[in-house]
Amino acid sequence: MSLTLKSRITLNDGHSMPIFGLGLYQAESSSKTIQIITDAIKLGYPMIDTAEIYKNESQFGEAVKKGIKREEIFLTTKLFTTEGGCEGCQKSFKNSLEQLATDYVDLYLLHAPQGGHVIEVYKEIVKLQKEGKIRSIGVSNFGVEHLEWLKQAGFVPAVNQIELHPWWQNEDIVNYCRTNNIAIEGYSPLGKSRFLDDPYLIKVSQKYNKTPAQILIRWSLQNGFITIPKTTSGIERLKENMDVFDFKLSDEDMKDIADYGKKNPQNTGWEPTKNGKDKFGPI
Ligand SMILES: NC(=O)c1ccc[n+]([C@@H]2O[C@H](COP(=O)([O-])OP(=O)(O)OC[C@H]3O[C@@H](n4cnc5c(N)ncnc54)[C@H](OP(=O)(O)O)[C@@H]3O)[C@@H](O)[C@H]2O)c1
Repeated sequence: MSLTLKSRITLNDGHSMPIFGLGLYQAESSSKTIQIITDAIKLGYPMIDTAEIYKNESQFGEAVKKGIKREEIFLTTKLFTTEGGCEGCQKSFKNSLEQLATDYVDLYLLHAPQGGHVIEVYKEIVKLQKEGKIRSIGVSNFGVEHLEWLKQAGFVPAVNQIELHPWWQNEDIVNYCRTNNIAIEGYSPLGKSRFLDDPYLIKVSQKYNKTPAQILIRWSLQNGFITIPKTTSGIERLKENMDVFDFKLSDEDMKDIADYGKKNPQNTGWEPTKNGKDKFGPI
């Protein structure tokens, strides 16, 4: 099947999720972000990824108040820590809904396996789902060990959002998610822009007459990763990052890019998947 901007993945709970969207980490709490969200949605971006900790949920809310159609957007937000238990979760979720100016989110993620009380909080989130306030439940930065603990407690999340690009392929987690029917969402698909001037990547981009950023986004998509490149610098980059559906990387180049990244593995973020059980807390 060929990929399009509107392609969706069916999740293990029966809901579907776009394969492409806009990430908002480090997008300012300012009118600039309201504008970027509005521009992205006007251009056809089907999904927005934010989080309690990004402090820009209210910019999405403002865009809704200014007229973007909430029901046409797949909206993800995240609970930063489970340390506040069920009460903390209810409080954070209520605050997120208020900031986002909506009465439901499409996907609610546990941002990382941190804070303890994970199972009781997960159960609380299931209650919110039953009340219709959350469509799908997912996790982020969960390693294989964390996912196994969840599974033992009877929960298989719909999505796991982890850092993914050629230089950080997290293959053990990807394989586990594929085997257990958990959709894989890759964050930092551009490696936070750290690799865009890599000479090998530039060579590949010239071969396809595309930019290095487009090659990396396409590499994620062809791997079956839901991808959410972030840009707040203006409409041109928004357009560039979505202009990845008119070409296909050959199987050989897909493998070469992966092999190239693997030679020099580097993550660009915090990587909590590597935390042990102590960080996950009692289950
Ligand atoms: N769950 C988690 O723990 C977690 C962690 C990290 C990220 N995320 C999510 O994943 C999203 C994406 O990851 P990310 O923000 O870390 O990094 P990223 O998308 O890999 O890279 C973003 C950086 O690349 C630049 N950029 C974007 N498009 C470009 C282009 N076409 N050409 C050149 N530079 C370009 C951006 O600058 P400008 O903005 O100036 O264009 C920004 O500096 C986040 O925004 C967030 O929603 C989740």
